[in-house]
Amino acid sequence: MTQPKKLFIKTYGCQMNVYDSERMSEALGGEGYVTTDRPDDADMILLNTCHIRERAAEKVYSELGRYKSLKAEKPDLKIGVAGCVAQAEGEEIMRRQPMVDLVVGPQSYHRLPELAARAGAGAKALDTEFPEEDKFAHLAARPKAARGPTAFLTVQEGCDKFCAFCVVPYTRGAEVSRPADRVIAEAHDLVKRGVREITLLGQNVNAYHGHEGGLAGLIHALAEIDGLLRIRFTTSHPNDMDDALIAAHGECEKLMPYLHLPVQAGSDRILKRMNRQHTAEEYVRLIERLRAARPDLHLSGDFIVGFPEETEEDFQATLDLIDEVRYGSAFSFKYSTRPGTPAAERDQLSEEVKDERLQRLQALLVKHQRAAQDAMVGREVGVLFEKPGRFAGQMVGKSDHLHAVHVAADGIAPGDLRRVRIVESGPNSLMGELVTL
Ligand code: 5AD
Ligand code: SF4
Repeated sequence: MTQPKKLFIKTYGCQMNVYDSERMSEALGGEGYVTTDRPDDADMILLNTCHIRERAAEKVYSELGRYKSLKAEKPDLKIGVAGCVAQAEGEEIMRRQPMVDLVVGPQSYHRLPELAARAGAGAKALDTEFPEEDKFAHLAARPKAARGPTAFLTVQEGCDKFCAFCVVPYTRGAEVSRPADRVIAEAHDLVKRGVREITLLGQNVNAYHGHEGGLAGLIHALAEIDGLLRIRFTTSHPNDMDDALIAAHGECEKLMPYLHLPVQAGSDRILKRMNRQHTAEEYVRLIERLRAARPDLHLSGDFIVGFPEETEEDFQATLDLIDEVRYGSAFSFKYSTRPGTPAAERDQLSEEVKDERLQRLQALLVKHQRAAQDAMVGREVGVLFEKPGRFAGQMVGKSDHLHAVHVAADGIAPGDLRRVRIVESGPNSLMGELVTL
């Protein structure tokens, strides 16, 4: 019997890449590959890359450098670059790192088996087209193996917003929604395999238009699936938060009270220069409407500090907005120039200013995050258990609000959704006790 070939995939960046990596390894499974978690054991190494900030893109080249000696020892080893760096840099990658055999952009993953075969035959293979067909429809059907209680499901890709700092509209292309019937069929399939919580993914997921009534329509349809207990979605743009989706946060019990809704900055002048197409006030009013629909909603956001022309006063407006919204969690970044985006051409702030602002911003975000976590003590929440906890005899799961919660494991299995009373707030997680009825 021939040995199966081994595939090592390393995933960078966002959750959409995590989903894509799963689908790519499934597609290559049909070509006789099994996955390994050791690059030195692999016949093919695939880096699924991220181009969102400069550092993310640089990591790819340093990682490739590390594989040089492996390739020297094992000339049959195939090395591929997928994802947004592949899309943005294309052939340039093979010029900088000639040992790369295969470059595939995010819209061409359905062509991966064919590209892998070409690379296997000793040719260089490159595909960074934006083809018309739905890549997921052409990727191998997902295998039937059992899986953990949570899963990502990409429903939308690309972005038409063109924020002045962002490469996504260039690397992922225009907004495309997957048809609802395919999404619903995939969700049914995931539930049959043990999934209890699905996070719908899209670069601009709330612009989804593959179902009547948009994303809200899709969420209501998915909520009908028996055995699917929880629905989440990410990432959203404030301007695509329509009335039906706001209302769904109050109407749909399976839609969890946690929303990632990036604002990026709190100064109207900077928001305008970022081409965000809304003001800080409009964003805050939107949050109020969401909280009216779902009072215990936890908000999460993304922030950029040191965007070109950001003054201390502009930065202060971001801090004020954070104090007003009181985020339960957040991600924050120093502005990073991205080739081809409008803001890259403007005068840049110094690294010192960016560093100092990032520190102040993060201190404030941590304070609110801490307060939101501590405020859970004494409350009852749903927890979907996933796996054994850090300490013997514990299980850990995620609360409705996405906090990690540890509970004494007695009688709990992965995939169980139980009511839990929170008794303590630790450094990174909550401790709770099962509520017995
Ligand atoms: N510099 C810094 N952060 C960025 N993001 C996107 N582009 C840049 C950039 N050029 C951040 C935004 C976005 C998140 C995914 O990454 O905050 O919401
Ligand atoms: Fe990038 Fe998000 Fe703006 Fe689209 S909405 S351009 S993905 S930051």
